[in-house]
Amino acid sequence: MKKLLVVCYSQSGQLTQIVSSVLRPVSESGQIELVFEELRPETAYPFPWTALRFADTFPESLQGIPCKLKPFRFDPQADYDGIVLAYQVWYLSPSIPVNTFLQSPEAKQVINGRPVVTIIGCRNMWLQAQERVKASIVELGGRPAGNIVLMDRAPNLLGIISITAWMLTGSKDRFVKIFPKPGISDEDIARAERFGVPLRDALHHGRWEGLQADLNRLGAVEVVPSYILFEQRILKIFNVWAKFIRRSGPPGDASRHFRLRLFIGYLFAAVFLIAPLATAVTFVLRMLHRDKVNRLIDYYASNRYPQETNG
Ligand SMILES: Cc1cc2nc3c(=O)[nH]c(=O)nc-3n(C[C@H](O)[C@H](O)[C@H](O)COP(=O)(O)O)c2cc1C
Repeated sequence: MKKLLVVCYSQSGQLTQIVSSVLRPVSESGQIELVFEELRPETAYPFPWTALRFADTFPESLQGIPCKLKPFRFDPQADYDGIVLAYQVWYLSPSIPVNTFLQSPEAKQVINGRPVVTIIGCRNMWLQAQERVKASIVELGGRPAGNIVLMDRAPNLLGIISITAWMLTGSKDRFVKIFPKPGISDEDIARAERFGVPLRDALHHGRWEGLQADLNRLGAVEVVPSYILFEQRILKIFNVWAKFIRRSGPPGDASRHFRLRLFIGYLFAAVFLIAPLATAVTFVLRMLHRDKVNRLIDYYASNRYPQETNG
């Protein structure tokens, strides 16, 4: 009997649904024991959020500052054949609870020497978060062995309004009956079951090398070229904002409110002005440097880390 550790955190339950769907073929095989570890912050992050609380998680998400988690229930000394790490993206970074897990001694114990498959459920921007997660896995002695990404399919600008309404009201209905339904579609979640088949086989045979190629053939990863440039650029500016906000006070403190309000204004400007600009610039860059952009797309669709610098 093989053993798979599944580490997950979800606020709305969306990511938990994705994980259940992907793992259906694994659990139905009857040959693999699943050990679930749901991460539980000592102080729960609110859902729905208030706008200020939503913004308040930004500096610590970006800088990878951990929160306090309740004690884990899994046995870090057990003999797992692989790890599934399911996470959502907060501000182009792995969410704080997942980042906290990655910094724990227990993560070091279980990840060291083992293949790790990541499952991401996010709105649409996950490239740089995954770079950080791959870096952590490699640093902990593990092997990034596969990546499955489910995203919101709404166009970027409509999607940002839908998801904001979802996050601030907790309702996953169509905002004012006009905007697209927020989050990942029920159909995409149900169809994610197909990714579990190569995962089950990799686990069963202990062969992980071809997993990402198999997953990619099933459409597990879509790299949107314009977000490569957008995420890289925005991260630089995010770093400046994170330092600026953290200088005004600790998380949750009212002394941060003024700077957080400024940041919310910036965030909307970035999404509505800078993102369309990045799309246009990427379009031109892709025409001029087709090979380079294609190499980047290929890199982000792979498990390689770090990125080769010779090209
Ligand atoms: C504070 C916060 C920041 C987020 N930032 C991003 C982001 O940078 N990129 C992205 O694609 N999605 C982002 N999202 C959406 C989440 O990745 C995720 O899809 C959503 O919160 C639902 O996850 P759940 O399963 O925990 O409910 C953010 C969500 C929250 C709450």
